[in-house]
Amino acid sequence: MVMVSPSILAADFANLERDIHVIEQSHADMVHVDVMDGCFVPNISVGLPVVAALRKVTSLPLDVHLMIDRPIRYAEGFVKAGADWLTIHIEADQPQNNLACLEKIRALGCRAAISLKPGTPAEAAIPYLPLCDMILVMTVEPGFGGQTFMADMMPKIRALRRMLDETNPGCRIQVDGGVDEHTCAQCRESGADILVAGSAFFKARDKAAFVAALKA
Ligand code: DX5
Ligand code: ZN
Repeated sequence: MVMVSPSILAADFANLERDIHVIEQSHADMVHVDVMDGCFVPNISVGLPVVAALRKVTSLPLDVHLMIDRPIRYAEGFVKAGADWLTIHIEADQPQNNLACLEKIRALGCRAAISLKPGTPAEAAIPYLPLCDMILVMTVEPGFGGQTFMADMMPKIRALRRMLDETNPGCRIQVDGGVDEHTCAQCRESGADILVAGSAFFKARDKAAFVAALKA
């Protein structure tokens, strides 16, 4: 069964603790935290202190998606702040730094992941696959919630699944951007294991039913 990771980007930042408990009560599997630096993406969201604060109020795994330049500078900080899964964008630094960053994340006992922007082909992930616990396929341009799902990313998910089946079958595939009750089925059918949902989760009146629909 797929796992669901609601994104707090669509939560009420003045009531984050309340919204974390809403996520817990929905039977979601983890909490997705979008970190944006205003450089790698044209938006600024939250950083280390918010991850540390969330760590104190939930036992759900924290799935931290770094949309920042040269993430190796902050990887240790986010693991120490409480990330259980830490995702870096391969477009954000040179390959040797990305590889070193993934090794560092794993050495610190955290699950390591890479993310691919919509314009980045599946093949670009090949050098990183042995070091990954998860690959995040973006189905919107990173930076903002509430954008339209890009169904043309499904072949990329299928290609990554085929590559992983050969090299690292335990590695999960996560999909992020525009995921809702309507777009979830094609993600699952293409081979996604973890679905992120921001706007659709927080808009859903019955959040447990929404999570169940994504897992269906
Ligand atoms: C976008 C973020 C997403 C965002 C998804 O850059 O990575 O996690 O919160 O939001 P929705 O589900 O509204 O597309
Ligand atoms: Zn995200």
